[in-house]
Amino acid sequence: MITAETIEKIKETARIEEVVGDFVSLKKRGSSLIGNCPFHGEKTPSFHVSVNKGIYKCFGCGVAGDSVRFIMEHEKYSYPEALKFLATKYNIEVEETVESKENIELNSARESLYIVSQFAAGFFEDQLWNSADGKAIGLSYFKERGFREDIIKKFNLGYSPDVWDALTLEAVKNQHSEEFLEKTGLSIRNDKGKLYDRFRGRVMFPIHNFTGRVIGFGGRTLKTDKNVPKYVNSPESDIYHKSNVLYGLFHAKKAIRDQDNCYLVEGYADVLAVHQAYIENVVASSGTSLTIEQIKLIARFTQNVTILYDGDAAGIKASLRGLDMILEEGLNVKVVSFPDGDDPDSYMHKVGAGAFKTYIEEQRQDFILYKANILLAEAGKDPIKKAGIIRDIVESIAKIPDNIKASVFIKECSHLLEIEERVLLTELNAIKVAKSKKAVAPQRASSFPSHPDMPPDDLFAEGGPSAEPEIAVSQVSSDILQEQEIVRLLLTFGHELATWEQTDNMYIGSFIIQNLSDVTFENDLCKRIVDYYRNELENGQLPTINQFLRSEDAEIANLAITVSTSEYSLSENWLNKHQIYVKDETHNIKSAVLGGLYYLKKHKVDSMLTDLMNQIKDEKDVTNQEILLGRYAQVKNVERSISKFLGSVIVK
Ligand code: GTP
Ligand code: MN
Repeated sequence: MITAETIEKIKETARIEEVVGDFVSLKKRGSSLIGNCPFHGEKTPSFHVSVNKGIYKCFGCGVAGDSVRFIMEHEKYSYPEALKFLATKYNIEVEETVESKENIELNSARESLYIVSQFAAGFFEDQLWNSADGKAIGLSYFKERGFREDIIKKFNLGYSPDVWDALTLEAVKNQHSEEFLEKTGLSIRNDKGKLYDRFRGRVMFPIHNFTGRVIGFGGRTLKTDKNVPKYVNSPESDIYHKSNVLYGLFHAKKAIRDQDNCYLVEGYADVLAVHQAYIENVVASSGTSLTIEQIKLIARFTQNVTILYDGDAAGIKASLRGLDMILEEGLNVKVVSFPDGDDPDSYMHKVGAGAFKTYIEEQRQDFILYKANILLAEAGKDPIKKAGIIRDIVESIAKIPDNIKASVFIKECSHLLEIEERVLLTELNAIKVAKSKKAVAPQRASSFPSHPDMPPDDLFAEGGPSAEPEIAVSQVSSDILQEQEIVRLLLTFGHELATWEQTDNMYIGSFIIQNLSDVTFENDLCKRIVDYYRNELENGQLPTINQFLRSEDAEIANLAITVSTSEYSLSENWLNKHQIYVKDETHNIKSAVLGGLYYLKKHKVDSMLTDLMNQIKDEKDVTNQEILLGRYAQVKNVERSISKFLGSVIVK
């Protein structure tokens, strides 16, 4: 573990403009530097670097962070790897706490698993190209299927001899221990205690992790016998966790980033075929159905996924639901389907590389519209079925975290389904309200709207001060937006003194925290930040915004950055246009803070009132009803005084 002192030193030394400047050409613009975002393709710069705050933020794709996060994202490094990278750049000596004995042993055991896996891959490859059976059976199989030699070599394909213990014997002869052969699953121990090979008489697909090390294998049978499993795969091991591996990622990652898109296919053979058509940004989930971890892995390289489907209708319908998961991660999903009976592999070999490439470029459709079309065709004219479809599609749209994108889909689906936009929006809001009760993370790409000094009427309009104007769908989680507003106030003004009468010159941070003692936060992230803030205060520390901006927890850092860098603090245009608002808010901190606090309280109290009212309606027992009515009157009094208070503080 790198010591806290070293981390501190690295963060202090690694100047954001120098770190980013190594990868992005930056120009000065107002108080910040700007350039083309290295994380998404763009021609007009929306990537801002704030030298004072030591952070970057892209107003195009929403990425944000400090120097360390930049290196993590750009180089796909882990946290310690990024710290070490920066330490090297700035000649900082890295102090590490001594690793425990268990840790060292664990690491060297994992290393042995990698080594024996690499050995096996080499053995299988050698068999394919150099042994009589390998050439006659394995290599000729690949060639019959139309795979070129360069592709077979690129993916290190191999052949496992059709005998009981070819690999096991060779590995032991080369000093590999039986323990690791067993732990990787390459060898299996029988009842008599003897080791034999898991893979026999199969063509072999080594599976690489994204740094290129072999971690497992898929072996395909050459028999057509239905009783033999088509594929045998390596079992889970300390180095192979199926749910977070994508077949082909190592060979695809550069192209995925360059093309800003990732093609997703089902099988090993499909990955090879698509590569053979000179399309290298392709991976397969192979074997497992797509997992969240796999989606997150893709999201490290691109926000765009294109699914290449087998053309069988039943299969397509079954997988539609799984794709909602990708939407939920905020990725854009497109699909290409192939003629019935074809998969990407068979289709590529049928039409050839050039025509294949044209086909997928021309046929790609947005997933939501694709889904709507499929379901619509199925429902035909049946109005009841059609109503079911609407719900189904709007549910998919509700998964999209970016409200602007969601509203575009609502518009398009309204044309397609011949239904008024308003009806779809109502449905969408209903779903979102139900969902927001369970607490959601803040929206990533949209910048956090500030709190312009609005007249009281506007302040209390639906959606509250933080609602994004013009986008109807964002109103649904206004309770959470209220909570984010408190976090924003806490982080931006917490260290300033509250100078109004009753506060006795306390810090605004303490004032806010004190006033939150009776409020339960619903949004987990906001709650974490408030709890942390409270904890620090209790330990006699006044947290600074830097602590949050530079938090190791990416979610916290992201929210802190979003709330502290609304567009007008970084973008000159915005500043010119809205300067007056910015100035007004700082001048009017008192009403911003009190307004934010009491507006949140009013929200909580309002929902208590609604709950009570429902309970009263459902209560059959008269005595109980009276008790509830008494409680209602009490809460109503609180609500009145809050409203009155709000009316008095929110003045220009
Ligand atoms: P080909 O039939 O050679 O074209 O193989 P493919 O790679 O296209 O496989 P297919 O589309 O049939 O299946 C998709 C993926 O599911 C494969 O790549 C395997 O990872 C997995 N798979 C298929 N059959 C089996 C099986 O019998 N057992 C296991 N464990 N996995 C399988
Ligand atoms: Mn196939």
